[in-house]
Amino acid sequence: MNSFKHTRENLDERIRRLRDATAATRGPAPDVCGDCQGTGWTVRKENGSNRAHRCECWIREKTGKLKQRAGIPRRYTRCTFDNFTVYPNEDIERAFRRSRDFAATFPVRQNGLLLAGPSGIGKTHMAAAILNECADKGIGGLYCETAALLTELRSTYDKDSRTQETDILRRLANADLLVLDDLGADHLTRWGQDMLHTVLNTRYNQDRATVCTTRLPPSPHERDSLLFEIGGRLLSILHQMCDIVEFDGADYRHAGNHPGTDTLQQLWRARKRQASTPAPRARFAPPGEQRPAGTA
Ligand SMILES: Nc1ncnc2c1ncn2[C@@H]1O[C@H](COP(=O)(O)OP(=O)(O)OP(=O)(O)O)[C@@H](O)[C@H]1O
Ligand SMILES: [Mg+2]
Ligand SMILES: [Zn+2]
Repeated sequence: MNSFKHTRENLDERIRRLRDATAATRGPAPDVCGDCQGTGWTVRKENGSNRAHRCECWIREKTGKLKQRAGIPRRYTRCTFDNFTVYPNEDIERAFRRSRDFAATFPVRQNGLLLAGPSGIGKTHMAAAILNECADKGIGGLYCETAALLTELRSTYDKDSRTQETDILRRLANADLLVLDDLGADHLTRWGQDMLHTVLNTRYNQDRATVCTTRLPPSPHERDSLLFEIGGRLLSILHQMCDIVEFDGADYRHAGNHPGTDTLQQLWRARKRQASTPAPRARFAPPGEQRPAGTA
């Protein structure tokens, strides 16, 4: 009898150890949401009758996936309108308002945006904030850095490539919202112009908005304008499908860590002063730059 009891205790102990070991390899039981017990739905009483609603946990998971799929570069994944510092500068205030309004009213049919201005003023931040806010509403967008996109398209011509050019073009054309960042950073070849024209034209015909950014002046009449880098056909469709938001401001990258509105305003003022001061004339032109007589 005693030996039977002993064997039984032994067996219980082994089962207990086995169960602990299995639990350890399996890890802790997944947290099941207390509000919906993992179904993704909760029921609330409205006007006396029960109605099913998407649970907060389901919405959080969905928006997380949309943000991940949007392909926003890591540095910009947390960019929102809340963490964009608006300082006294009419240009920044207007650009911020236009971008925030765009995100707030999307997907109601509207033109896209072309955010144009010098480096470091927050163009990519605003474009990422638009994508993030749309994801919060359950709308999937796509971020593309223009030069990287063209490299990706070109790589589909490699004989080992498993992706087809048409797959990428379809993904770009079908995204509810597309961000094309840094247009004109590289000079577009005729092929690049054709590719981007196909994407933009398809989106335009399907009433799908596109948000673009550029460091170059979008007006074809200005010096060193976007026209020279992307060509007339592409510029023309951009003007057709996007509202142009041209703005200037302080270069945030030169403003130190977590600058306040005062610092940004000071930087902005200094930049304006610099722009309005004519560059001093060189007393002596460097040898290679001496002009022939009569051409001054
Ligand atoms: N007003 C602002 N408030 C908070 N962060 C800002 C602001 N402006 C810019 N930033 C931050 O500064 C960095 C540079 O901004 P961003 O990359 O958006 O500039 P950009 O205009 O796109 O420049 P580039 O033309 O060189 O691409 C980013 O990390 C961005 O989040
Ligand atoms: Mg940028
Ligand atoms: Zn839940």
